[in-house]
Amino acid sequence: MTPSKKENRYKRLYIQINDLVSKCEDPVSRMATIVAVLHHKMEVYFWTGFYLLKEGELIVGPYQGPVACMVLEKDKGVCWAGINRKETVVVPNVHEFPGHIACDSRSNSEIVVPLKDKAGNVIGILDVDSKELESFDEVDRIWLEKIVKLVYN
Ligand code: SME
Repeated sequence: MTPSKKENRYKRLYIQINDLVSKCEDPVSRMATIVAVLHHKMEVYFWTGFYLLKEGELIVGPYQGPVACMVLEKDKGVCWAGINRKETVVVPNVHEFPGHIACDSRSNSEIVVPLKDKAGNVIGILDVDSKELESFDEVDRIWLEKIVKLVYN
């Protein structure tokens, strides 16, 4: 997809998601809705979901795609890197990322976006995997950060 086509797609999805989540404030319900919309509207999204921090562990939350790891080994892999750095991490080739956790061997690139609660504490992470290399860029980062904010706004 060209950058401008991707930009336009995200713009439309943002409006759609914003409208959908306005009907219910429950964060898990909102996460499930965000994941369902993104997963079915973005062709390269192969696995789309949230991991949530619970008592120091990172546990799978609402997701769409193949069955994934339920618990991610602490401080290992891409999701934990996003949690610990408190920022989005774009991984063009997961096989080159130290400690990458391969829940599904078909994933080749990945983006993770931290989820913050109303107080600004990181409480989880949105993880999107693609079967292709280099699927994610600045356009994905900017729009996914805006979309993840809709969980608590
Ligand atoms: N690859 C992730 C693990 C989660 S799965 O991709 C769904 C990681 O390295 O943290």
